[in-house]
Order: sequence, then structure tokens, then C-alpha cells
Amino acid sequence: MAVSVSVSPPAAAVRAAPGGPLKGRLRPPGDKSISHRAFILGLLAVGRTEIEGLLEGEDVLHTGEACRALGARIERHGAGAWRVEGVGLGALLEPRGTLDFGNAGTGTRLMMGVVGGHGITAEFDGDASLRKRPMRRVLDPLTLMGAEVLAQGEGGRCPILLQGTPEPLPIEYRTAVASAQIKSAVLLAGLNSPGRTVLIEPQASRDHTEKMLAHFGAVVASEPFGPEGRKISLEGRPDLRPARIVVPADPSSAAFPLVAALIVPGSDLVIEGMMMNPLRIGLLQTLLEMGARIDVLDRRAEGGESVADLRVRGSDLRGVDVPAARAPSMIDEYPILAVAAAFASGETRMRGLSELRVKESDRLAAIAAGLAAAGVESAIEGDDLIVAGRGGHVPGGGVAATHLDHRIAMSFLCLGLAAERGMAIDDAAMIATSFPAFQASLASLGARFS
Ligand code: S3P
Repeated sequence: MAVSVSVSPPAAAVRAAPGGPLKGRLRPPGDKSISHRAFILGLLAVGRTEIEGLLEGEDVLHTGEACRALGARIERHGAGAWRVEGVGLGALLEPRGTLDFGNAGTGTRLMMGVVGGHGITAEFDGDASLRKRPMRRVLDPLTLMGAEVLAQGEGGRCPILLQGTPEPLPIEYRTAVASAQIKSAVLLAGLNSPGRTVLIEPQASRDHTEKMLAHFGAVVASEPFGPEGRKISLEGRPDLRPARIVVPADPSSAAFPLVAALIVPGSDLVIEGMMMNPLRIGLLQTLLEMGARIDVLDRRAEGGESVADLRVRGSDLRGVDVPAARAPSMIDEYPILAVAAAFASGETRMRGLSELRVKESDRLAAIAAGLAAAGVESAIEGDDLIVAGRGGHVPGGGVAATHLDHRIAMSFLCLGLAAERGMAIDDAAMIATSFPAFQASLASLGARFS
């Protein structure tokens, strides 16, 4: 295991400094997955969809722009409050220019499903990070349904020119990876199919698309398939009715203040309204196994999801072995879990992380490099990440390279709040994709950034 501690941060870096405990209450921003889907299903239903608590991050706003380009009228009428006047299934307009999704893989892949199932052609593109992400995983099933890829970047990457089909074939499709994005692209294309679309996934991935489709009036069924998988069936051409959507707080964003409070000694924080969907709370389960002092308070229902307030206190964590089967329920949380593991006593092994290599950055490599810059040993063995915990004493003092990845950026800023010499990141700009108020929110609880 190699360790190097770099020192002087470049001029554009943001630095997190260690300081007093984090105290107070915080409501994390709206869930990113649900926010994307709210715009998209709003587009596909005829009439007015009302959204409350939408995440106003760049990723979601790009999806909103794409929905506008396909014919929706979208207006903001208050903080997080948006109205979508949808045009309805089968009635989408062909966009005039390129659909620019910025940094957002979710927006891109879900909208590829929408376009793939309609008789329109659209070009998909985004930033340098998005242009590196694999799209064949979505284009392959869409092609089976009748869509055609007219142009593509190397290896099936963006920019991609996709010609949809006005009559997608109903297919039964098995994905090799448990990915809600692949599942959602196939289901969204299947919406405009004259028959039944069936998607089989090897492990259950987040189920927001299925739940929201049912909320809009589609007939969709989900049943267990094999030891860990699921089979989702959707009847095509439903009469989608516009709906009201209340977006709960994003557990993937809550993860950052949550872990920050665990590793900064003496912290006592309440995180409000966090979505407790069982397919999204693998991190919570793992942190509890590590000995985290987290009390789950006031469980209640909000907008069709279970939510709760979490009281989090500074904790002595211990290393654990995280099974591969848990990965889909915490796929975006490994960077911040690795930070928690750095402060734990003993080793943490996180298994089965191959999907981390194709996120906004190669997160396996970015985590290992960032930890090394903080003076923490780690190793990648196959698809496993092993972090040698330092029992509360992380040297810090380095600069983490963020590679246009918001979660790498936030993770290493959290590390800096508890590391002996703080920690810098090279670029905080991407944080605006998912948690625009991250620094301000944490600063209001006592965090120090400069
Ligand atoms: C998402 C699914 C996940 C996750 C992403 C959001 C979604 O990707 O990493 O941030 O909203 O469907 P995969 O399901 O492809 O792993």
C-alpha cells in the first residue's frame, strides 16, 4: 500500500479545515433520482404536474431543459416548486439543438429511453466526464426495441445521435448489471410500446421509476426473480395522468453531513426528512455496523416514501466488511464511506465495486489517490477496495484530485473537517450538480472552508 502526502494546494482549491463540532439541524436537498424522473414523467403526461422539493442542482436542471426541448412547458414558482405542462406520450417534439446533459449520466440515459421510444431524433452530449461514460449499456436494449444509433463517439460514448422509433417493440431484457439507469431507460422506451416490456435485473436497484410510473397511472409490476434479482413488467401505452410529486431529502446527499458529524468529535446533528427507501440506505446500515451513533427518529411517510430524521453524534468507528450484495443500495456512497473507514479503527473491505469505475469519474482510483494524499493507506484488489483505518487520526494536508466528480469533491472536503491538517480539493465546481448549498449548509453547522 503506497502513501504519499502532497502539500501546497493549487490556487483554485477549496480547503476544509478542522475545527469545532458540527451542531444543529440540516435538511439535505431533494433526491436527485426522483427529481430527474419528476420532470421526465411530467413531460410524458398530458397536463400539469406539480413538483415540491425539487433538487435545483445542475444535473436536474439539464434534464428540465431537455424536457423543454421535447415540448414540455416548465416553470419555477418558488424554492423547489415547479410546474410541468406535459405534452404526453407519443406527442413529443423533435428537439432543435443538441441535448446538453452537462455532468449527468442519469439524465442522459433516462432521456435516451424517452427518445428511443418515440419517432424523433436527438443528439446527446455533455461535459468531459459524461463523454467518458459507457452508453452502450442503454443503447443496446434500445436498439433491440427499434431505435437506431446514427452517430456516436468512440466506444459508444457521447456525443450520440439517436433516432427513436414511433412503435418500440415490446421486449424482455436481462441486464448484466444492477443499474436503475438501464432499467429506467428500457421502461421509459417501453411506455410507448404497444405491448408489455419486461426487464430483469440481477439484483434490485433503486425503484423510483417503477414507483413514479404507478403514481402517474401506469400498470407496472415488480416481483422477485432468482436469489437477489427482480423482474419488472410494464404495460405499454398507458394513459399517464399528471400528478403531484413531493421530493424527499436525498440520502446520497445526506451522506456527507452524516459522515462529517460522525468523524468530527463532539458533533451532534439532526438530518431532517431523509428518504428511507430500503434500496437507498445501504450506507446507513453499514455505518451502524461500524458503531455509528445514529438514532432514527420520527419515521413517517412523505410523498409516497418513508422518511425519517437522523440524530448523528461523533463516534468511534470500527472497520467492517461490506458485502458486494449491498452495493446497489449504496452505489453512490462509497467515496464517503471510504472517508468514514479512514477514521475507523481497523480495516474496512468494500466488495464488488466494479461499477465505481464508470461513474462521474473512476471512483475507485479517485478514492485511493485522495486517501493517499491524506496519508491514508488503501488498496484495490480486483473489484474490492480496502482502507486501512487510522483510528481517528488522519493526517490530511494534501490535495484530492476530483476529476469533475461532485461526490469525490464533497467526500474529501468532509475528510478535511476532521483531518489533523485539513484537506484541499482541486475543484469544487461540480458540487453544484447535486448539492449546490453544500458548503453553506455545513458552514452553518460549524464547518470551516476557505
Ligand atoms: C441513478 C442510478 C445509479 C446512481 C446514479 C443515479 C438513478 O446509477 O449511481 O447516481 O437515478 O437511476 P446505476 O443504477 O446505473 O448504478
